[in-house]
Amino acid sequence: MNYQEVLKRAKETMAPRCKVCTECNGIACRGISPGPGGRGLGRTFQRNYQYLADHVKIHMNVLAQKEEKQNTEVTLFSKTFAAPVFCAPIGMPDFTYTPFLNDETYAKAVVAGAKEAGIVAFTGGGAFDKCFFAPLEVTKHFGGWAIPTLKPWKMDVVKQRIALAEEAGVFAIAMDVDGIGLQASIDDETIKPIVPKSQQDLKEIVSSTKLPFVVKGIMTAKEAIEAVEAGVYGIVVSNHGGRVIEDGLSTAEMLPEIKKAVGDAVKVFVDGGVRTGSDVFKMIALGADGVLIGRPYAIAAYGAKEEGVRIYTEKVIKELKQTMLMTGCFEIKDITMEKIKIVP
Ligand SMILES: Cc1cc2nc3c(=O)[nH]c(=O)nc-3n(C[C@H](O)[C@H](O)[C@H](O)COP(=O)(O)O)c2cc1C
Repeated sequence: MNYQEVLKRAKETMAPRCKVCTECNGIACRGISPGPGGRGLGRTFQRNYQYLADHVKIHMNVLAQKEEKQNTEVTLFSKTFAAPVFCAPIGMPDFTYTPFLNDETYAKAVVAGAKEAGIVAFTGGGAFDKCFFAPLEVTKHFGGWAIPTLKPWKMDVVKQRIALAEEAGVFAIAMDVDGIGLQASIDDETIKPIVPKSQQDLKEIVSSTKLPFVVKGIMTAKEAIEAVEAGVYGIVVSNHGGRVIEDGLSTAEMLPEIKKAVGDAVKVFVDGGVRTGSDVFKMIALGADGVLIGRPYAIAAYGAKEEGVRIYTEKVIKELKQTMLMTGCFEIKDITMEKIKIVP
């Protein structure tokens, strides 16, 4: 199977919610809720995509060649990956897209497909219990090869679930602290499963586990520094793919100032609007250590489950290598700010 066939099948299995557009930019799906679109008219989703596409451009550098092959390998979480690319967590696919996949079968597709391609998936889940347990069972089956992304549940629940994730053998955990934005519609305090988190809560989480902890949903330098002070392993510069706020800034435009504020004190991950290997290249140049991709992995999984995830990952890595070739980069560390130009 090739990537075009994956897309063709996804068009069928995702209809009518996702149209599998040529450009996954948040325009055709604006206002489709529940669905793949962004909050409101989807302006934050569109800005993530459009800023990266229109304002971050790549310098060619072809006289720097050596007889070396481009190497995209990176070491993060004390593990070596084929590339600094991760599947972003996607929860409740049956509710957002179609019942062709659910939390369990989606997790199986991304965990297995990522593993085959030499990378790893952050697994997601909605705020409700089943959304956490099904992906965790899958993760256990694959020897702990996933990064469970906890919801910002109440602290006692968070700690119980961290203990379960540890038992499942995972090597890191994450939490989408911006997930509170999805909960706004639930007013009943007695059933409200998720609550906002503070810097103190992050400190408590970090000290409750030996696993590296990644906080997802950081969009300002100030909060990034607070996360560093709380002792996290990494931050994900993310606005949840534009799903939690209308008229937010894009992740790519915030990344350089966040990286400047934290330096090398934590690993910096980013997501939002990344579709291709050259997008991954741009995010690395802007300061990221690792890049998460959301909707395209959903499309890949709906198109051909783990095979689709593997095929899409291989495509992104190939594009990343081609971009490195054209820019005189041989290792990921060669991808620096000088390789790009931010244009008005
Ligand atoms: C359908 C859908 C479900 C998502 N579910 C989760 C989730 O359960 N947990 C989470 O941390 N992020 C979730 N996200 C956000 C993604 O992890 C990621 O931040 C975002 O999709 C990145 O933007 P991109 O789709 O433009 O790549 C979800 C995104 C989508 C589109």
